[in-house]
Amino acid sequence: MEQKEKEVFVINGLAGNKKLNGSVVINGAKNAVLQAFAATLLFQDEVVLKNVPEIEDVKNMVEIIRGLGVSVERRSRGVYVVKVPTNISTELAKEISKKFRASIVLTGPILARFGKVSFPHPGGCVIGARPIDIFLNGFEALGAEVEEKEESHLIKAKGTNPTTPKLRGARIFLRVPSVTGAQTLMMAAVLARGKTIIKNAPLEPETKNLADFLNSCGAKIKGAGTSVIEIIGTGLLRAKGRAYKTPPDRIEAGSFLILGAVAAEKLEIKNCNPEEIESLIETLRYCGVKIELSKNKIVVSSEKNDKYKSTDIKTHEYPGFPTDLQAPMTVFLTQTEGEALVFETIFEGRLNFVNELVRMGADIRLWDQHRATVKGPSLLHGREVESPDIRAGLAFVIAALIANGQSIIHNVYYIDRGYEKVDERLRKIGVDIVRQALV
Ligand code: EPU
Repeated sequence: MEQKEKEVFVINGLAGNKKLNGSVVINGAKNAVLQAFAATLLFQDEVVLKNVPEIEDVKNMVEIIRGLGVSVERRSRGVYVVKVPTNISTELAKEISKKFRASIVLTGPILARFGKVSFPHPGGCVIGARPIDIFLNGFEALGAEVEEKEESHLIKAKGTNPTTPKLRGARIFLRVPSVTGAQTLMMAAVLARGKTIIKNAPLEPETKNLADFLNSCGAKIKGAGTSVIEIIGTGLLRAKGRAYKTPPDRIEAGSFLILGAVAAEKLEIKNCNPEEIESLIETLRYCGVKIELSKNKIVVSSEKNDKYKSTDIKTHEYPGFPTDLQAPMTVFLTQTEGEALVFETIFEGRLNFVNELVRMGADIRLWDQHRATVKGPSLLHGREVESPDIRAGLAFVIAALIANGQSIIHNVYYIDRGYEKVDERLRKIGVDIVRQALV
């Protein structure tokens, strides 16, 4: 990882010309597969995970799970087999969990199955405070005790009888519809005694995807994908050879769609589910972007003198405009005519990257942690910038490839956390991008 942090992307920009052509194939969704890895801890038998993206966050997840004593075998490209032994460590490795927020989804299944779990306050992308009260309150509601230690949280189920469920079902209202919060509690509830109801649940499709797989293996979860999820505890699940297939990554598809809108003559985005990014598609169409849709494919195209009009965006839980597409969309808005308000409602640190875009020549004013106005169109200039998080990192790649001149993007590790070999895929559609190790 340390070596990776020293890698950079060197990109020679297109100076505003829309020249890219070709197709990209969308990989499995990061924010579905990380949770699926955690869900393997609910299984009695081995679970096969397919279409797993080969990204840094998957490597992090595999490292943490292996550190617990769970067997994770990478059988072939994108195929992993996980088998949980009778006893495992219930302590999440500190260093890696601190760096990687999604590690927290492991806590629900570990607690529910083994009766206790300890973990450090999770870190991850620098996009806001990212509290964990929803997880801790949820565990308490399910009958666990929460102890705050100096550097970690220790959660213990009150039920200690090895042959009966350690947690008990509960009614839980989520103060905010936290995606990983709901998923973590939903997984814990599968092994709890009785019924759990989670209200104000987020509608993100990855929750339904996870519930569907668990249900196919014996769980009883109703309502995932709606704001009320009901789970009847069933005990350990059995895959019986059934494999989990990671759905396509809607955020990756959306990122490439935005990239295509600003830089491509014609770009085909294959193996995706357009229905899951309708808010982005409708917004781009409103701005004048030409988009054709079929079941699993999006084609975005433009002609030389096409101009786009600008529009305000406000991030929102699904099916609203995803916060994970706000940074690339902000780059798009630097290329549209007029003034747009970008209102980031989910994370308070997710607009910080705009200062770097200003250094590249964008006309953006940051009013506060949640609001910025973008005036366009601006010709951006190549600069040396540093990725602060996964999504802003990709936004810098898009900014660099439409800019005039050369850009160097540091901290490529962050981009690799969410996008598999993005440099190789971009080269194939005409982007002048190389990965270099800093010496
Ligand atoms: N929140 C709390 N308390 C909690 C948990 C969350 O106040 O205990 C707040 C957060 O601070 C935030 C809001 O609730 O203001 C929503 O956060 P949420 O918990 O839904 O985010 P998350 O579950 O940590 C997942 C994705 C994120 C994505 C968000 C929102 C995974 C692994 N991560 O995060 O993805 O931005 O949902 O859709 O699924 C990314 O992929 O780059 C990424 C950050």
